[in-house]
Amino acid sequence: MHNFEYKNPTKLIFGTHQIEKLASELQALDAKKVMLVYGGGSIKKNGTYEEVVAELNNAGIDYVDFSGVEPNPRIETVRRAVKKAREENIDALLAVGGGSVIDCTKLISAAIPYEGDAWDIVLRDHIPTEAVPFGTVLTLAATGSEMNSGSVITNWETQEKYGWGHPLVYPTFSILDPRYTVSVPKDQTIYGIVDMMSHCFEQYFHPNHAPVQERMTEGVLKAVVESAPKLVNDLENVDLRAIILFAGTIALNGVLQMGASGDWASHNIEHAVSAVHDIPHAGGLAILFPRWMEHVLEEDNAARFARLGTEVFNVEPAGNDLETAKRTIAAVRAFFDELGAPSSLRDYDIDESTFDAILNSAMKRGAFGRFRTLEREDVAAILELSK
Ligand code: NZQ
Ligand code: ZN
Repeated sequence: MHNFEYKNPTKLIFGTHQIEKLASELQALDAKKVMLVYGGGSIKKNGTYEEVVAELNNAGIDYVDFSGVEPNPRIETVRRAVKKAREENIDALLAVGGGSVIDCTKLISAAIPYEGDAWDIVLRDHIPTEAVPFGTVLTLAATGSEMNSGSVITNWETQEKYGWGHPLVYPTFSILDPRYTVSVPKDQTIYGIVDMMSHCFEQYFHPNHAPVQERMTEGVLKAVVESAPKLVNDLENVDLRAIILFAGTIALNGVLQMGASGDWASHNIEHAVSAVHDIPHAGGLAILFPRWMEHVLEEDNAARFARLGTEVFNVEPAGNDLETAKRTIAAVRAFFDELGAPSSLRDYDIDESTFDAILNSAMKRGAFGRFRTLEREDVAAILELSK
C-alpha cells in the first residue's frame, strides 16, 4: 500500500424524495442565480425536472436553463454554456442528469472564472485556481461522477476524449433518488452496470499490496453481481435501482483506490474508441475489458484474476491459478452476455479501417496502464481481439 491522503467533500443525500433538501443546499451556497444544466430531455419526460423546478420556485431561487448536453459531452457545448453562464451572471450550477451532464458541469464550473479556453483545462495546460460551486441531481447509475472530482470531455475535431480532474470540482452536494433512475432504458441500465463493474476491475487490478481495498472491491462487485441481473429484468424495481445507484457511487468515489494505483488502461482504450466513434462508454468497456484481461494475463499475475473469479463469480478453482484465471475471464464475459451487453466492436460497426485513428488517439500521451504497461502494439492486439 502506498502513502495517501483522502478527502471527499461531496455531501451525499441518498433516498427517495430527498429533493426536498435541494433548496436549503443551494441556499447554503448563497446562490442568487443558478444555471440548471441537463441533457436531451429525459428529465422532462420522467418528472425530475418538474420536481427540481418546484423546489426552486417554492424557495424563490432564480434560475436559467442550459439544455442539450450530449452523451460523451463535447468541448463546444462547454464553451456555449460558459458564455451563457457569464451573460446571465450565475453564481452556482446544478447538474441534473447522468455522468455526461455532471462532467460537462464540472468543466463549466472551472472554466467560468478562467479567461482562456476550457480545453486548456482538459489538457492540463491550465490548472484551475477557482471554480463556481455546483450540486448534482443524479438520474443514471454509472460513472460515480456525482461523488468524484473527475470529468471526461470529447474534442471531436481533434479526436481526443480525455479525463481531467481537480479537487475544486467535487460536487458540493449530490442528491440520489433511485426513483429518478427508474426510467433509464434497458440498454443504458446495462451500460451503467458494466461501467461500475469496470471501475471496480480497474482498481482491483493494481500493482500494490492492498488487501483491505481488494476485499472492499470484491464486496461491491458481489452486490452488483447479485442484483444486476434481477434489475435488468425488473427495471421499475426501486429497491434494486437503489442498490445499483449506491454501488455506482462507491465504485468511483475514491474509497476503493486509497493507497493502491488502479490500472485504468481499459478506460483509456475505450475513451480512444469513443473519441473516433461516438459509442456509449460502457458499451465499449463491455467489449474491451475481457479482451484486456486476456491480453495481460500471464503466470505471474494470474493469482489476482483467479481470486476475482472464485470470490466474485463463483468460479471453481482449476488446480492452478492460470487455468482458474482463464475461467474467470470466461465468467466475466458470460456475465456481460447474460446482462445483454455488447461483445464485439462489430456490434457498433467498427472494424480495422479505423484502428489506426483509435491507436493514434490512445497513444497521444504515451504508454499507459499500471497493472501492466501497454505500448501501441499491446493496444493494437487488444483491438484485434475485440473485432
Ligand atoms: O440526455 P438525456 O436526455 O438526459 O438522456 C441520457 C442519455 O441519452 C439518458 N438518461 C440519463 N438519465 C436518464 C436517461 N434516460 C431516461 N431516464 C433517465 N433517468 O441516458 C443517456 C446516457 O447518459 P450519460 O450521462 O451519457 O451516461 P453516463 O452516466 O453513463 O455517462 C457517460 C459519460 O461519463 C464519462 C463517459 O466517458 C461518458 O462520457 N465517464 C465519466 C467518469 C467520471 N466523471 O468519473 C468516469 C467514467 O469512467 C466515464 O468515463
Ligand atoms: Zn467508466
